Amino acid sequence: METEVLKLNDYINTGIISEEDLVKIKEAAAVLKEGGLVAFPTETVYGLGGDARRPDVSKRIYAAKGRPSDNPLIVHISSMDELYPLVKSVPVDALKLSRVFWPGPMTMVMDKSDVIPHETTGGLDTVAVRMPVHPVATKLIELSGVPVAAPSANRSGRPSTTTAEHCIEDLMGRIDLILDGGPCDIGVESTIVDLSGEVTLLRPGAVTMEMLTEVLGNEPLRDKAVVRPLNEGEKPKAPGMKYRHYAPSAPLTVVRQKDGGDEVRKVYEAINDMVSEWTVEGKKVEVICTRECADALHLPEGVLVRTFGSEGESGEIAKNLFAVLRDTDSDSVDSIIAEGFGEKDLFLAIMNRLKKAAGWQIVET
Ligand code: TXA
Ligand code: MG
Repeated sequence: METEVLKLNDYINTGIISEEDLVKIKEAAAVLKEGGLVAFPTETVYGLGGDARRPDVSKRIYAAKGRPSDNPLIVHISSMDELYPLVKSVPVDALKLSRVFWPGPMTMVMDKSDVIPHETTGGLDTVAVRMPVHPVATKLIELSGVPVAAPSANRSGRPSTTTAEHCIEDLMGRIDLILDGGPCDIGVESTIVDLSGEVTLLRPGAVTMEMLTEVLGNEPLRDKAVVRPLNEGEKPKAPGMKYRHYAPSAPLTVVRQKDGGDEVRKVYEAINDMVSEWTVEGKKVEVICTRECADALHLPEGVLVRTFGSEGESGEIAKNLFAVLRDTDSDSVDSIIAEGFGEKDLFLAIMNRLKKAAGWQIVET
């Protein structure tokens, strides 16, 4: 299959969709309407979209990603009117959350209607719905006139894609079209909240636990997959959370302070010690960390360092995290050490992705 790449030059340069860009978005919308597959930018990560009502289309999405078909897809909408046909009913808490966080980086799980086939929901009777705030995504969904099923636009097991170049790496020749709208702002996937029963956080994201709690009036539950590694055979509520996602090719270890620690130097020292030890053993080691950490390390010759942002700058770190994880793959190292953090606000989402990338290998100083 030939994959067309359409670059939205004016949107990338100015943040405004020009007439020329709109022609390209219309072309992409027509592809979706006809049952084709389109990778498109959202504020979180790129999505791999198709008509959510069509079982054949969902199957092609799974095939393009190389994804197990028990892992349900998120259905994207562009206005509140489009929600009602997809679900049995809209719980009061869902309305509350939608008023504050939609459009935006939050996905809500509700009981599905018959409009959404089981092929799209991985066999579940619930559907995950999200209304993105990215102008290109919104325009595309609106013009297509269909609910758009879109998992992250990566090959299964690789980090989610936050640029069109990543989509090209993973999906060229496997889908119809890639809309290039530049890099994604947030960089980690949406917060997923289950509203089909007791309100439960299934995946942390840029809409934080703290923000949800404020709007709901009490703290949602956290699914076990958010809190700890799963035991053999245990099932998370979001089937996708069981996979070792975002996995770089080399094993990754996270190093951070014990809860409540306030001596970041100890983390730097621990990273230094680990690197020295492993280098002596003859391993090729790479460190991914903040700029402050990189400046503080005294590394042996040949140890690669990639930085994902500044200490405390959760927005910057989230935005760069997946790109840095992808970059480590081309470095062909034996081991990766990542600087880790506490879990307040957006850092909960960052640590969730890092822990999964590390297969929960975490050292606390
Ligand atoms: O930010 C995002 O959410 C991005 C962009 C493209 O919108 N999409 C995304 O999709 O991250 P994906 O497919 O990579 O992750 C979807 C997650 C999976 O962990 C899946 O198991 C969960 O959502 N999920 C989908 N439908 C569900 C449902 N009905 N019940 C529970 N979990 C569900
Ligand atoms: Mg994904």
